Amino acid sequence: MIKNNTVYESEEFRQMLLQASAMQEPPVKDGSLRQAFFLSRCRRIVGQREQETGRRMTCHVVTFGCQMNERDSEKLRGILTLAGFTPAPSEDADFVLYNTCTVRENANVRLYGRLGALSTYRKKNPAMKIALCGCMMQEKDEIERIRKKYRYVSLVFGTHNLYRFAELLCACLLSDEQIIDVVDESDAIVENLPCERTYAFKSGVNIMFGCNNFCTYCIVPYVRGREKSRDPKEIVQEIEHLAGDGVVEVMLLGQNVNSYGKGLAEPVSFAQLLQEVEKVDGIERIRFMTSHPKDLSDELIDVMQHSKKVCPHLHLPVQSGSSRLLKCMNRHYTKESYLDLVARLRKAIPDLSLSTDLIVGFPSETEEDFLETLDLVQRVEYDSAFTFLYSKRAGTPAASMEDQVADDVAHERFDRLLAEVQRIGRRKSSRFEGTIQPVLVEDLNRQEEGYVTGRTPHNLVVHFPGDASMIGTIQDVFLQKAHGFYYTGTVSPAADAD
Ligand code: SAH
Ligand code: SF4
Ligand code: F3S
Repeated sequence: MIKNNTVYESEEFRQMLLQASAMQEPPVKDGSLRQAFFLSRCRRIVGQREQETGRRMTCHVVTFGCQMNERDSEKLRGILTLAGFTPAPSEDADFVLYNTCTVRENANVRLYGRLGALSTYRKKNPAMKIALCGCMMQEKDEIERIRKKYRYVSLVFGTHNLYRFAELLCACLLSDEQIIDVVDESDAIVENLPCERTYAFKSGVNIMFGCNNFCTYCIVPYVRGREKSRDPKEIVQEIEHLAGDGVVEVMLLGQNVNSYGKGLAEPVSFAQLLQEVEKVDGIERIRFMTSHPKDLSDELIDVMQHSKKVCPHLHLPVQSGSSRLLKCMNRHYTKESYLDLVARLRKAIPDLSLSTDLIVGFPSETEEDFLETLDLVQRVEYDSAFTFLYSKRAGTPAASMEDQVADDVAHERFDRLLAEVQRIGRRKSSRFEGTIQPVLVEDLNRQEEGYVTGRTPHNLVVHFPGDASMIGTIQDVFLQKAHGFYYTGTVSPAADAD
């Protein structure tokens, strides 16, 4: 019997699995019972293969892209583990699944590189199954390319039918044909599917799917579909279950969490949802991402200010400091209104940590526009920032804009911006040196034996002496020394700290 204590099946799903394993035919209705039926079939198939080969059937999932994909991969791993597969440490496995991203061109390039590199494993194990899913699979051109040039890929599915993975896996295990199942849009939100968490003590929680914002450079709305919010009761219930299972930190996930709840039968605001999550016993820390500046309400600032659990860290992507470019990007705010928002946030939550995303080289960006971005970065003083070179995504409005910026110009600006955000970030994130902070211990430190690694509420990484028994606990740690983007420290009291 395979035992993995981080696989989480709800009681409802456990009951469904029991019910489904006695069924002869799959339930016609699309939903979790139907998936439970196919999962029990997969179990039988995997069991048979193991008997035939006399060894364990192994799987490996590789995730590209953002936290949504990370969370989706936990669900995919949950299905694979319950289907009887044993996780393998590398792609040398019987079933390899790539959960893809397509936000920038280099994400696609990396995927094809990894696929090509599988050839050694494929030679060794010709029965190996390779599956692709996620955002890149929602693009018609990529599907054509896989259909023509990557015949050895066994299964392809997209973002809208991920919840049908058990069914697709079953079909794939029984077939030698390439199976491609990608749908353009779906309203379905299927609850109660199992998942295998990467961490026992913290978890992402989807609160919404898709995006309605259509920033002109961005492909996400095309590959993730329209915005759909989950029912708040389902979210709170999931978090209660997670807390019962030992989770102390949740990260609420959505492309634009600030517009949460708009399409629901009984609209609920994101700030109201946070207050409900705050009530869940056992949850000590609440994080969320991503916040779109245009929808960040005073109500949310107020909730963050008074909450005991919402962490004082906000990821607030600005993209550019030029109001002219922000308009071209369809972001619906200006440099001034963004700075005003930051001022209001800092007034309410004085030591708030701020991080951001920045794009360099958007079509028509001039040196003046770029200097506006540098100026904004200097004024806001972010704790950290992700800087991206603009990447042209086919089908987005920006791809057909005139005046694409020359590569060398964009690279030169990128380097200047990166140097500046690093200089500021290093200084800003050192501001807690000499203080005691509650640190959630996440892992053993891989570089230094006898040390553990954790995060402060402000999302700063701390290394300090400790052992595996501390993982998942919150320790008061004296932050002895700042080293740019991380700290070293010792468990408080500070008097013992040298
Ligand atoms: N929904 C989130 C971000 C999703 S994508 C938000 O709106 O903030 C994450 C980041 O990728 C974006 O914030 C943006 O900075 C970057 N990005 C998206 N499309 C891009 C493109 N075509 N080229 C370069 N960077 C891009
Ligand atoms: Fe992309 Fe804009 Fe939606 Fe974020 S808000 S996912 S950047 S379209
Ligand atoms: Fe990439 Fe899809 Fe996320 S395109 S950034 S994995 S939503």
